Amino acid sequence: MTYSSSTQEHETKLRRFVGHVAVITGAAKGIGRACAVRFAQEGAHVACLDVHDTGNAEAVETCRRYGADAISVHCDVTKLEDIQRAVDEVMRRWGRIDILVAAAGIYTGGLLTEVSVEQWQRVIDINLTGVFLCNKVIAPLMAGCCGGSIINISSMSGKTSWPGTHEYSASKSGVIGLTHSVAMEMAPYGVTVNAVCPGNTRTELVMQAALKNAPREGLTPEEWLARRANDCPMKRLAEPWEIAGLCAFLASEDARYITGQAIEIDGGMVLT
Ligand SMILES: NC(=O)c1ccc[n+]([C@@H]2O[C@H](COP(=O)([O-])OP(=O)(O)OC[C@H]3O[C@@H](n4cnc5c(N)ncnc54)[C@H](O)[C@@H]3O)[C@@H](O)[C@H]2O)c1
Repeated sequence: MTYSSSTQEHETKLRRFVGHVAVITGAAKGIGRACAVRFAQEGAHVACLDVHDTGNAEAVETCRRYGADAISVHCDVTKLEDIQRAVDEVMRRWGRIDILVAAAGIYTGGLLTEVSVEQWQRVIDINLTGVFLCNKVIAPLMAGCCGGSIINISSMSGKTSWPGTHEYSASKSGVIGLTHSVAMEMAPYGVTVNAVCPGNTRTELVMQAALKNAPREGLTPEEWLARRANDCPMKRLAEPWEIAGLCAFLASEDARYITGQAIEIDGGMVLT
């Protein structure tokens, strides 16, 4: 195992979303990119929303390689007007939205004395308010059309915590609370709303966490990641495509009676 962020693609033969429209935030990299590619592989039209235009364009290119109609839209999830503009573009092009994966997120970290109010606010704005705004704009469209599936990316840090993850854990617990409430409101309209809670996953975000936290434990970033892998009962980090597989299941017909859940995908980590 090397501890660089993963660019590995996992190809599925399933085709569960032919003709469906998936909107993925944070699609330029990591888990969001893996979700965009997975839904493309399974036949969906895919809208990739991100602030990172180059990564977003690469995500679209990969989706198209699998035959999907895919678009890249510059969208800062903290800005309601950006989300509304992106959704208008999707509705003009395809006329419906069946799937939302709200994956855009950042990690900052630091001890309580180090975390500035600005840092706290920025993480809450992107990781929690960003998810709220996407749910707020897209859920009513699903409810007024053919139902749908909303998958909000939380974290194992939304269910438990460690020193130095205050704003991140708070934002991710907030996503679980938000998911419960939106799920209750949307249930009568055939819209399922679930949170996915990954453990450490091989993306740039976990590399950021390693850079930030390793010195505090007297470790190199590589050693910090190796220790996190060793802490996990499965003795490894997750791959982004494994998280995308769970998101695809939650958007599938097999998951139509699953709503309001916050599902861990962490190799057993939260149990330790
Ligand atoms: N990697 C992990 O170990 C891990 C574990 C648990 C949860 N998560 C969560 O998974 C989600 C995806 O993270 P990742 O690991 O793929 O990280 P990543 O850094 O690889 O990707 C995050 C993406 O979000 C985008 N983004 C950041 N701010 C944005 C904004 N304001 N508007 C739109 N896009 C924005 C980035 O440009 C990037 O493309 C995040 O919500 C993260 O908190 C990650």
